[in-house]
Amino acid sequence: MDEITTIPALRERLAAARAQGRRIGFVPTMGFLHEGHLALVDDARAHSDCVVTSIFVNPLQFAPGEDFARYPRDLIRDRALAASRDVDLLFVPSAEEMYAAGRDIRVNAGAIGDRWEGGVRPGHFDGVLTVVARLFNLVQPDVACFGQKDIQQVTLIRRMIAQLGFPLTLRVVPTLRDADGLAMSSRNTYLAPDDRARALALSRALRGADAAWAGGERRAARLAAVMESALSAEGLAADYVAIVEPDTLKEVADAPAGTIIALAVRVGSTRLIDNIILGMERA
Ligand code: PAJ
Repeated sequence: MDEITTIPALRERLAAARAQGRRIGFVPTMGFLHEGHLALVDDARAHSDCVVTSIFVNPLQFAPGEDFARYPRDLIRDRALAASRDVDLLFVPSAEEMYAAGRDIRVNAGAIGDRWEGGVRPGHFDGVLTVVARLFNLVQPDVACFGQKDIQQVTLIRRMIAQLGFPLTLRVVPTLRDADGLAMSSRNTYLAPDDRARALALSRALRGADAAWAGGERRAARLAAVMESALSAEGLAADYVAIVEPDTLKEVADAPAGTIIALAVRVGSTRLIDNIILGMERA
C-alpha cells in the first residue's frame, strides 16, 4: 500500500495504474475505520483493479459547534486496517492540500439537502457534495463506493453524479452492524456503556417497523408509531422519523416496497442515524 499526502503524487500513481489498464475504485472516508468502511473497500476491490481510499475529515461538512475538532482520528490504526484489506493507494491530504485553491465555491445540494439530516445540520450536504466532487475530480474513479448507512448522502451523491455528469458507477453497500444490531459508526466511540445499550433502540425500532410492514401494515403513520414506541421505551425521542420515497426523499402516506425508513436520535450527547429499505432486508 502506498500512502500519499499530496495531489501531484496521487495523480502520478493514478496515471501509472491507468497506463496498466487498471480500473480505479474509490472509497472516500473520514477515517477512524471500522468494518463498515472496510466492506466498502472489499466491494471496491471486487469491482476494480486499483483501490483508492481517502481519509479526510472535511471541515466544510461540519457546522460551527459540531464535532469537527473532536471527531475521532487514529491514522496509525487506519493505516494498518487499510493495508490489511489490500488498499492500493491511501490518500491522506491535509486541509491545506485539499483547499489550496480556496474553498468559497460550493456544490449546492438543493432542496433535498435542506431536509432530514440537512434540516438539523444546515449546509452539511453542500459540504459533503463539494468535497466528494473535489475528490472525484482528483481520483477520477471508474467506480465509487458509499454506504447505505448514510442514505440521504447516497441519494444526493447519486443525483450529483447524474446532474453534474461524473463518468463513474456508484455502488451502494448495505449497512454493517455490530452483532447486537447497532449500525457501525465512527461516532459510536462517543457512547458511554449505558448509552451504547440504549442506542440499540434505533435498530430495534427499524426492525419493529420492518416486521409490521412484513405483516401487511402499509400506513406510514402506523409504522412511525411503532418506531416511536420502541424509542420511548428507552426514554429516547427521534429528531425525525422519515418514511420516504427513495429518489426524492419525500414523505409517503403508504409505504410500498423500496420505501426508505430513516431516523436520527440523540443518545446522551451523541447523535446517531440509521435506516432500512422496506422489502429489501432485515435490519
Ligand atoms: P464516513 O462517515 O467516514 O463514511 C465513509 C463511508 O463509509 C460512507 O460512504 C458511509 O456511508 C460508509 N459507512 C459508514 N458506516 C457504515 C456502515 N456501518 N456500513 C456500511 N457503510 C458505512 O460519509 C463520510 O465519511 C463523509 O461524508 C464523506 C463521504 C467521506 C465525505 O467527507
